[in-house]
Amino acid sequence: MRAVTVRSPAKINLALSVGPPRADGFHPLATVYQAVALYDDVTATPREDGEVGVEVLGDFAAAVPADDTNLAVRAARMLASRYDVTAGADLVIRKTIPVAGGMAGGSTDAAAALLACSRAWDLGLGVAELTGLAAELGSDVPFCLVGHTALGRGRGEQVTEVMSRGSYQWVFAVSGEGLSTPMVYRELDELRHRKRIRAGEPSVPPALLTALLSGDPAKLAVALSNDLQDAALSLRPELGDTLRFGLDRGALAALVSGSGPTCLFLAADSQSAVDLAVELAASGLCRTVRHAEGPVPGARVLG
Ligand code: C5P
Repeated sequence: MRAVTVRSPAKINLALSVGPPRADGFHPLATVYQAVALYDDVTATPREDGEVGVEVLGDFAAAVPADDTNLAVRAARMLASRYDVTAGADLVIRKTIPVAGGMAGGSTDAAAALLACSRAWDLGLGVAELTGLAAELGSDVPFCLVGHTALGRGRGEQVTEVMSRGSYQWVFAVSGEGLSTPMVYRELDELRHRKRIRAGEPSVPPALLTALLSGDPAKLAVALSNDLQDAALSLRPELGDTLRFGLDRGALAALVSGSGPTCLFLAADSQSAVDLAVELAASGLCRTVRHAEGPVPGARVLG
């Protein structure tokens, strides 16, 4: 047994189509995920007493629970119990992904913990074996293991890879305060109820899949969509100013990332992305700005 570090990416949703709530409270989704080059690193160091400890370092660390409610800790405990592992692990999470930002930061830490612990405990499991556990931990966790660009069905946990050409330049405006995902889904239900909108079967726009095959950011820009955006804007109207700011400064597209409140901008190229990032950082509209490209692979062992 040895210490293992896994690097795991943030996700964005290029399309997020949401149906009416199911009997279990979750919403059926048709989504296209893309993994982007913003990463958290999780190191698992085996310990003999069977306990799981956690320390959180880096940006946003103060906003992450360093206790048993941490999804990475739950991932390690679940893996140990399913595979009758008597060892424990000390987890160190180095965060650069925004917390409660709609970018699957907590989910990706759980994916990283699954992979790191399975290696640290010599379980010999591959991604295919870990995706079942990942789905139990959270809707986005399987995608964080797989990465690249993928279609998500069910509540988002049924993932199949999507063909995609080229890479895309994304800029992220990160808010000072996160948004609760359940609250955003609830707001969507309420908005639909108030406006008497009957949500149908969720579906991914075919134009998006075609745009991904072209590798052309201008084509992708007009095909992006997010059903949760109106709900996030209803809870945080000021996000509308951030989206407009980016569009006025040349972004090809602007949308809320997942359940928000991170705002996402697609730039024409790397230089335009840097220029937009500088302008957003000076705007005072957000806490932090990041620039990253996608797609990138899912969780992977660094050593
Ligand atoms: O799956 P995960 O634990 O990440 O989901 C967090 C919350 O987001 C759920 O408890 C639920 O309220 C909401 N959710 C949903 N439908 C989905 C995914 C998440 O309603 N497909």
